[in-house]
Amino acid sequence: MRGIQVRRFGAPDVLEVVELPDPVPGPGQAVIEVAYADVIFLETRIRHDGAFFAPPLPYVPGGAVGGRIGPLGEGVDAAWQGRQVVAKTVPPAGSATGGGYAQRALAETGAASVVPHGLDLREATALVHDGPTAVRLFDNAVSTGALRPGAWVLVLAAAGGLGALLVQLAKAAGAHVVATARGERKLKLAREELGADAVVDYTRHDWTDQVRRTVGEPGVHVVFDGVGGAIGHAAFELTARGARFSAHGAASGGFTELDATAAAERGVTLAGIDQVQFSAAEAKPLLDRALLEAAAGRLRPVIGQTFALEDAAKAHAAIEARDALGKTLLTVG
Ligand SMILES: NC(=O)c1ccc[n+]([C@@H]2O[C@H](COP(=O)([O-])OP(=O)(O)OC[C@H]3O[C@@H](n4cnc5c(N)ncnc54)[C@H](OP(=O)(O)O)[C@@H]3O)[C@@H](O)[C@H]2O)c1
Repeated sequence: MRGIQVRRFGAPDVLEVVELPDPVPGPGQAVIEVAYADVIFLETRIRHDGAFFAPPLPYVPGGAVGGRIGPLGEGVDAAWQGRQVVAKTVPPAGSATGGGYAQRALAETGAASVVPHGLDLREATALVHDGPTAVRLFDNAVSTGALRPGAWVLVLAAAGGLGALLVQLAKAAGAHVVATARGERKLKLAREELGADAVVDYTRHDWTDQVRRTVGEPGVHVVFDGVGGAIGHAAFELTARGARFSAHGAASGGFTELDATAAAERGVTLAGIDQVQFSAAEAKPLLDRALLEAAAGRLRPVIGQTFALEDAAKAHAAIEARDALGKTLLTVG
């Protein structure tokens, strides 16, 4: 089968098209005949220099796919055969990660979700990573009482795959949303398609003043920080007493590391990346919820661009250049 392999870390062109052996499903697993593979920001960082955790080389990137179930492993009910599903991938034998950028991938059937009626496979695939993450971040903010009707929610990187879902979930809960992103194309998406109440370009030197003028005193009640670094630190200064600050993103190079004492003085609850580090089995109920919300028309993944499997390098280059809008997928023939 055709797939994409990384033999050394580096620029997007290290994503090479190669012939790979078909994956063999283990007990409880199935082969998915891949139609779409998800591409996430983290995969660009890992490919670049092995950031966060360096997988042994070579490896096939890709942690989430959509397609039809093919050959089944031992103990899997034959009813799975031919079903249209989306799932996080199980790395193929000998690999520590990935497996999704290929014509066939492995998944645990227990963690695979059947695509509900009313949702196409492409949109469902776009939700495999971003859906559970968005739902968990949203639930956590609601459960602390910070995200409630009338609250102000600040979404950083609002036009990315995850940010686009967070804007919609917060709006649907009756909150007011300030969406931040870089450039008019992304701000237009947030304002006109996602329903943000206000949009601010956070590459402007006065962006925090703009947010403050919009939300007034006492400040924002929730920050969803998908960017990190200096932008995240500046956003912390906008928080109201009792706010929740979710520092789950590192798109600018590193997570926002905030001073716990300063946060405690303001009664701000800090939450980090650990709140969304879950196994495929833990993610499944959250994914199913996101899929049902999307099938009912209440949540819409924004798929800004798709690339052929062979053009995986172009997909990574677009994300790194910040040209990508919403979610990026690979189409696999
Ligand atoms: N998706 C998930 O399930 C998940 C799970 C855990 C953590 N996260 C983290 O959450 C963040 C957002 O994830 P995502 O999936 O929404 O990613 P994405 O779709 O690739 O969006 C990333 C966003 O980051 C912004 N950005 C800011 N500085 C950037 C830079 N130097 N290079 C590239 N992009 C930059 C870009 O928007 P602008 O150009 O508008 O700034 C872009 O829209 C990432 O840090 C990711 O690692 C995501």
